[in-house]
Amino acid sequence: MLDVENVRKSFGGTVALNDVSVSIGEGSIIGMVGPNGSGKTTLLNIISGALPADRGTIRFDGHDITGREANAIARLGLVRSFQISRPFPSMTVLENVLAASHAGTGPAVRARAADIVRQVGLEAVIDNRAHALSFGQQRLIELARILMLRPKMILLDEPAAGVNPTLMEHIKALILSLNREGTTFLVVEHNIRLVSEMCERLIVLNNSEKIADAPLADVLQNQAVKEAYLGSGRAVRNPKHRIYADE
Ligand SMILES: Nc1ncnc2c1ncn2[C@@H]1O[C@H](COP(=O)(O)OP(=O)(O)OP(=O)(O)O)[C@@H](O)[C@H]1O
Ligand SMILES: [Mg+2]
Repeated sequence: MLDVENVRKSFGGTVALNDVSVSIGEGSIIGMVGPNGSGKTTLLNIISGALPADRGTIRFDGHDITGREANAIARLGLVRSFQISRPFPSMTVLENVLAASHAGTGPAVRARAADIVRQVGLEAVIDNRAHALSFGQQRLIELARILMLRPKMILLDEPAAGVNPTLMEHIKALILSLNREGTTFLVVEHNIRLVSEMCERLIVLNNSEKIADAPLADVLQNQAVKEAYLGSGRAVRNPKHRIYADE
């Protein structure tokens, strides 16, 4: 479904991605982890068309999407979330979801927006303004906005960051249920429990390179991964990045 080949990206003198290749089959949920600054968000930005790659190719669902604009990529069915969700604060939940529509705001679209608000569990606050909602509820608005686009594949950047355990379970259940209906996911997430409960495979980035791409159990045994997380101490200093229980 998604094939990223030899993507490279520098920002001035900083190499953010050094010839990274990733392949994701239709219907899967793949996790991506890595220490701060390893290039995860940059990779999502490039796949979704928010940033151009310096070189490399990206194919999605039979199309070469390299260098295409984010809107055009979203229309093909590949949509990303942002690490920080950003609904329009003065609009209601329903208005926010409607505003994401590519198909106008007619009665059928409004009905679908309301269905999606229910699906993500925000029906009790459907007419409340976004700024009055909790951080976690704002994340659900973002997910609802993504669903309006009828995505075939969703890229999520740290969906559980800053949300409470109850909401994290809710987000996990939503992802699993959308996946059962056929949506493919690439999920950047530091919470290893969440990753292990959702993902069949884990991609590890470190220092702008892919150092592992395997089922979770194999990744945890991988020497390069152990060094990235335990050796340099960089990841260990940031508790957000603990992937080993005994660190
Ligand atoms: N717009 C930009 N301009 C300059 N440098 C950037 C830009 N975006 C990212 N970088 C750099 O590219 C590298 C990779 O950053 P990126 O945000 O992709 O990391 P990440 O793996 O998502 O990290 P985190 O876990 O903290 O979210 C870092 O060195 C970062 O400082
Ligand atoms: Mg990031």
